[in-house]
Amino acid sequence: MSPETPLLDVEDLQIELITARGVVRAVDGVSFTVGRGETVTLIGESGSGKSTTAMGVLRLLPKGLAVLSGSARVAGHDVIADPDAIRDVRGRTVSLIPQDPMTALSPVHTIGRQLGDALRLRNPGMSRAAARERGVELLGQVHIPQPETRWKAYPHQFSGGMLQRVLIAAALAAEPELLVADEPTSALDATVQAGVLDLLMELQERTGIGMLLITHDLGVARVVSDRIHVMKAGRFVESGTAEDIVAAPTEPYTRALLAAVPALGPWDGEATQPQGESSKGAAR
Ligand SMILES: Nc1ncnc2c1ncn2[C@@H]1O[C@H](COP(=O)(O)OP(=O)(O)OP(=O)(O)O)[C@@H](O)[C@H]1O
Ligand SMILES: [Mg+2]
Repeated sequence: MSPETPLLDVEDLQIELITARGVVRAVDGVSFTVGRGETVTLIGESGSGKSTTAMGVLRLLPKGLAVLSGSARVAGHDVIADPDAIRDVRGRTVSLIPQDPMTALSPVHTIGRQLGDALRLRNPGMSRAAARERGVELLGQVHIPQPETRWKAYPHQFSGGMLQRVLIAAALAAEPELLVADEPTSALDATVQAGVLDLLMELQERTGIGMLLITHDLGVARVVSDRIHVMKAGRFVESGTAEDIVAAPTEPYTRALLAAVPALGPWDGEATQPQGESSKGAAR
């Protein structure tokens, strides 16, 4: 793959879901790309098709219940034309940060066991000791205090924010080039949310990872995104840089989303911004 090939290149993606109430066209012809080091955000109201887009691209929709057309090239492999291609890239080129940290981990195994398994899956020859060493390092990278001690703890001994950090560490265990994060902070309270977003941005700066972020919060989107696609009823009604979308939304729908952001103020504070930078969108 040449360096110019986008990590994700989606063209005219359509997804029909076969439901009890008939066929729903959940995604109705969307096109977008995510390049190295970029954060591209899908934003929109509940039911607009954001998760279906992400799950379709990762081929995680139930077989036989979803009909996909168009193309979605992940690191150059079209996973719509060739569904098997995703097996070569999922968990390697691309990792998913799931929405709900409380249910994504098994309650009966330690954090270390689960993170260690993820590492050994990615690196079949890795010894338990080496997995532990690397896992503790990853927990440190996502700012889990006392990672050696925490390695032996169970999920219930972690707060929601800490668990979300563990899931980010697990996604990073695969050393992906592209992260898909579906509402990675929606289960968390506002302060913790800011911390997790800061962490993702810091990791991106360090590793140059590409990110497809899903949120319904324009306040979040405007801080972290290079580009924003506003989704409604399966289509993009507006696309542009974070700056453009927030400064001059052309669609009434986007204006309504913007008006629904309760307080843009706190996001302007230093606490939620990468040091020495205003918003990412504004920096470009
Ligand atoms: N399992 C399902 N069965 C039936 N319909 C579904 C299912 N999953 C999604 N849909 C429908 O597909 C459409 C898109 O849903 P999707 O979950 O992608 O929206 P979303 O933008 O992610 O919403 P949210 O912000 O609530 O997560 C909606 O009309 C929804 O009702
Ligand atoms: Mg969703």
